[in-house]
Amino acid sequence: MRATVLPQYGEPEQLTVAELPAPSPAPGQILVRTAASAVNPVDLAVRSGSAAEYVKLPFPMVLGWDLSGVVEALGEGVTRFAVGDPVVAMSAQMATGIGTHAELVALDAAIAAPAPQGSDLAHAAALPLAGLTADQALEQLGDLAGSSLLITGGVGAVGGFAVQIAAARGARVSVLVRPGDEELARSLGADEVLTSDRPLPEGVFDAVLETAGQAGVITAVRDGGRAVSIVPAAAPEAERGIEVRMSFVEQDGNRLDRLARLVEAGTLTLRVADVLDFADAPLAHKRLAAGGVRGKLLLAPLSGN
Ligand SMILES: NC(=O)c1ccc[n+]([C@@H]2O[C@H](COP(=O)([O-])OP(=O)(O)OC[C@H]3O[C@@H](n4cnc5c(N)ncnc54)[C@H](OP(=O)(O)O)[C@@H]3O)[C@@H](O)[C@H]2O)c1
Repeated sequence: MRATVLPQYGEPEQLTVAELPAPSPAPGQILVRTAASAVNPVDLAVRSGSAAEYVKLPFPMVLGWDLSGVVEALGEGVTRFAVGDPVVAMSAQMATGIGTHAELVALDAAIAAPAPQGSDLAHAAALPLAGLTADQALEQLGDLAGSSLLITGGVGAVGGFAVQIAAARGARVSVLVRPGDEELARSLGADEVLTSDRPLPEGVFDAVLETAGQAGVITAVRDGGRAVSIVPAAAPEAERGIEVRMSFVEQDGNRLDRLARLVEAGTLTLRVADVLDFADAPLAHKRLAAGGVRGKLLLAPLSGN
């Protein structure tokens, strides 16, 4: 099978397509024929070596956390899925070594979910990592109904899902975005759009979800409010009785199932910037690193070469 492999840490050009032996599903696993995977900021960190401290995996590595595809075979004891089922999954590649930029992926059935019906299966690869991150981080903020919530990076992959989830839960959602993203932010359900070219109001929000790497946004939270960040490099420091938490995404097939159903209901939108071949992984890494991408960059087994 074809896969995008990383033979050593380095620049995006390190990523090349190679033929690897097809995996077979262990007990409790499903074998998935990939429709698409996605490129996430974590893939850039793993590829460059900046996350090497947390990655104890042998080279060559297969990168990729997001997966959509069709169940090709079942490991012993799997009853949750049948051969032919369209599924989505998030694999914590950095910890488990199971990367999704491959034509065939074997992973635990418990971390997969039925793909959203009515959506392009390849596009469903935009959901798992960003959707789970948004949902798990918002959970740390407790009941959002009636609260004023600031989401930074509100049109990003995680931020965009967070806006949609929080709005559906009755929060009054404000976002911090780049100038030019105002309309997109409103289309996702933001009630108020703040742009990064102007100072934030101080001490007004009940809570903040920080996805843009802006530790200083804690000044926008009211005394005794709540803050959750998903960016460890820019973790806000607690002040004025504000509770600060970090949130790190975890594999969770049941939660992913609920999110996929929200896609079916139209509550969550699958935003895709481009679908590229596995061989174009270097290009995808460069585009994501450059910023300004709106929607996920997907990698798929488009060509047989
Ligand atoms: N803790 C976890 O488990 C976890 C999980 C997923 C992601 N993350 C981290 O969370 C961050 C977001 O991930 P993502 O996938 O959502 O990335 P993304 O799609 O690139 O979204 C980030 C968004 O923030 C915007 N932004 C950056 N600086 C800004 C500023 N000063 N003002 C306003 N907007 C700004 C970006 O705009 P531009 O594109 O124009 O820069 C982009 O729209 C990354 O650092 C990622 O590593 C953590």
